[in-house]
Order: sequence, then C-alpha cells, then structure tokens
Amino acid sequence: MDFESNSWIGERLCYYPRLFGGVMLTAALLGVSTSYFTGISVPTLPHLLPNLSILRKKKRGKKRIRVYMDGCFDLMHYGHANAIRQAKALGDELVVGVVSDEEIVANKGPPVLCMEERLALVSGLKWVDEVIANAPYAITEDFMNRLFNEHKIDYIIHGDDPCLLPDGTDAYALAKQAGRYKQIKRTEGVSSTDIVGRILSSAKSISQDSTKASLPGDDNMNGVYAEEKMAKIDQISRFLPTSRRIVQFSNGKGPGPNARVVYIDGAFDLFHAGHVEILRSARQLGDFLLVGVYTDQTISELRGHQYPLMNLHERSLSVLACRYVDEVIIGAPWEVTQDMVTTFNISVVVHGTVSERNSSTGERHDPYAVPKNMGIFRVIESPKDITTTSVAQRIIANHEIYVKRNAKKEASEKKYYAEKQYVSGD
Ligand SMILES: *[C@@H]1O[C@H](CO)[C@@H](O)[C@H](O)[C@H]1NC(C)=O
Ligand SMILES: *[C@@H]1O[C@H](CO)[C@@H](O)[C@H](O)[C@H]1NC(C)=O
Repeated sequence: MDFESNSWIGERLCYYPRLFGGVMLTAALLGVSTSYFTGISVPTLPHLLPNLSILRKKKRGKKRIRVYMDGCFDLMHYGHANAIRQAKALGDELVVGVVSDEEIVANKGPPVLCMEERLALVSGLKWVDEVIANAPYAITEDFMNRLFNEHKIDYIIHGDDPCLLPDGTDAYALAKQAGRYKQIKRTEGVSSTDIVGRILSSAKSISQDSTKASLPGDDNMNGVYAEEKMAKIDQISRFLPTSRRIVQFSNGKGPGPNARVVYIDGAFDLFHAGHVEILRSARQLGDFLLVGVYTDQTISELRGHQYPLMNLHERSLSVLACRYVDEVIIGAPWEVTQDMVTTFNISVVVHGTVSERNSSTGERHDPYAVPKNMGIFRVIESPKDITTTSVAQRIIANHEIYVKRNAKKEASEKKYYAEKQYVSGD
C-alpha cells in the first residue's frame, strides 16, 4: 500500500538526530509537512510558523514524544476533534492516519466523504501536526513497525471502546504488548451514526413538505414537522455542552495590538472541507479570524425548518477546532451591525461565493449593508463547491445503504449507552 511519498522517507532519515537532542526538529517538521501535502491544499508553512517559538523553547529539553491516532473521519464532528485533542495531549507531536476509501468500503461500506475531503478536514484541525493518507483500517504488524521505525511514533492512541478485528482479536493487541499503547476516553454525545440519522430524518421531513410522499420504507408522519424534528434531535443527540469543553477547544487569546481582525459568518452546519478552505482564505486576509456562527433559529428561518442538522454548540465547537479560527461568536446575528464592527474592531467582513442562503425565503434586507457602506466588505472565491446540502444529498441518494448500516450501528450504540459506566478523564 502506498501510504507515503518517497520524500517522506527521505525526510525521516534526516530526522534521526532528533533522538539525540532534537536539533533538526524544526526543519524536518516543516519539510515533511510541506512536501507531503503536495496536491492537496492542507496546512503548509504559514500555519506551522506560529508554533516555532514553542518548538524552540522545547528543543533543548527532553526528546519529543510522537503519538499516532487513526480513523476514518467520515462526516467529521466535534467528537473526532475532541479525540484528536486528547491524543495530542498525550504527546508533543500528533500524527493522524486517515483510513483509505478502499479500506472503509471493505470494512464498513462506502464512505460519505472521499479521501481528499477527509484529509482536508483532519489537516484543518489545530491539534494535528502531520497526516498519513490511506492508512490501513486495522494496524497490522507491518504497519505498526513502519509507524515505529519510519514515522518514529512512540505511542499508538485509541479510544476506550474496544476495537475488534473480524477474527475477534483486539486490533491494538500488538501495540499493547509492545507497551506502546495509550488510551483516551470516548467523547460522549455524538457519532457519525447520529448525524446520518439526523440527515435521513430531515430528508424525510423535506420530502413530506414538498410532495407529501415519503422515502421508501418510511412511515408517513403528519403534524408539525418542526416539532417532530426537534423531538427527533433531542432523542438522537446526547450532547451536553459544558463550559470546560469550550475552554479546551479555545485558543484563549484575543487579537494582539494592531491586529487586523477579519470577520466571517455563516451556519457552518455539518462542518466540511469547503468550510475549512473558506476559513483558510479568510484568515489570510488578516491576523485574527473571528467567526460568527448563526443561531439555530436564524438557520431555520433562512433554510427551512429541517435545518440546522447540528445545533449551535456543536457547530461552534467544530469551527473552534479549525486551526485558522481564532475566536467564535456563539450565536451571531444574521446582520453585521455597526456595533459589532466597533466592538470587535473588525477590519474586513468576508463572504464566500458559494452560499446556501435560500433566496426563496426572501431576504428582508442585505445583512452586509453596513460593511458594504463602510467599504470593508469583501467577497472571496469559495475554493470548493461542496456544501452542507451536497453532503446531505450524498447520504440521501444512498439512503438504503445508510439506513441499513445505521440500524445495525444504532443497536450497538444503544447497548453501549445501556451498559455504560463512569470513566474518568477528559
Ligand atoms: C483596530 O484595527 C486596526 C487594523 O485595521 C489596527 O490598526 C488598530 O490598531 C486596531 N485598534 C486597536 C485598538 O487595536
Ligand atoms: C427554502 O426555504 C423554504 C421555506 O423555509 C423551504 O421550503 C425550501 O425547501 C428551501 N429550499 C432550499 C433549496 O433549501
């Protein structure tokens, strides 16, 4: 399997001196990250630069611990982001393996997002230092040795949920035997299974709205759809937003003196590769990126009552986890006001060309009238045409597969919740 480029191996060889004092660390880290990502727009030099001062400080100290975590990261949500955050806390450098499309098809059925989209999402997380594309689904002995020898991994990290291979053995047994395994706590409250469930139930409500027909295999529901949908989300989402989680995801820094503050707003529903790209472009226009995340009510009014799929706190955490974001307004107004511009010293307000604003709902007035009048409004080309709706459409188009897959997973999730016990950690 070709999960690495030759340049990666080349860099790794020069990397050995790190073990004896870490002198080459900075150069090697930058070299690897830039050469490795050719062809995919993921973090390159500018995003690693802010970390250099930290690296320099640590350079003289002990050997840096490199940890590895893998996953499919399909329909990535803040639960994945939180796992990655915890993994990073167990070491100094986090390498994330993203499982290949082929391996996902073989083990779980077709992924919703392709390799490139999943890589862009994972690379956009602020705790990720390097990614390995096309990682295997299960860590084989061969792959484990490559992790240890070529990638200089010290520990392999996985959540506390058991991960069994088809033959019933523990997927991490080898790493455990080698004493190179560490565990993190599962993030409660969300899973890709819930999200697929939410998309399917919102599709059901759309189809009932427009044609009163239901998707094959669904019972016809009547009544107030919005309320039913809320009930459905309440039933599916077990997310308990805590102030501590928000703190863990935050940068905890305001804009420095003379910083140029860039403001972008949106729903950021079902956080996807297109969001990562637009946030990156926006961040490049200044020194500090402030993101306004709309309230659930605003989105329902703009896009229809079946939206948003993810609630305000869930959406805010996904945005906060992105490396290009400095600060989030949790529940931003739809209209950019003069007061906001003054309060946050906003220098430029940006908006992407790909937008999901529903024009049939009749825009009462232009939400960007103030920044336009002030001459600080900029439209930036959205680098990808992927949207929340297009991601949802992929699932709806294949809903038979996903309904089946979800039914199976929902059963095991139910069992998990029924049997779960307190586990300490964060
Ligand atoms: C407000 O932003 C401008 C950049 O647009 C910057 O020059 C100025 O110093 C900022 N004001 C303060 C008080 O930081
Ligand atoms: C636009 O909003 C209306 C009313 O809320 C909704 O019925 C319709 O499905 C929406 N259209 C799109 C493309 O989201």
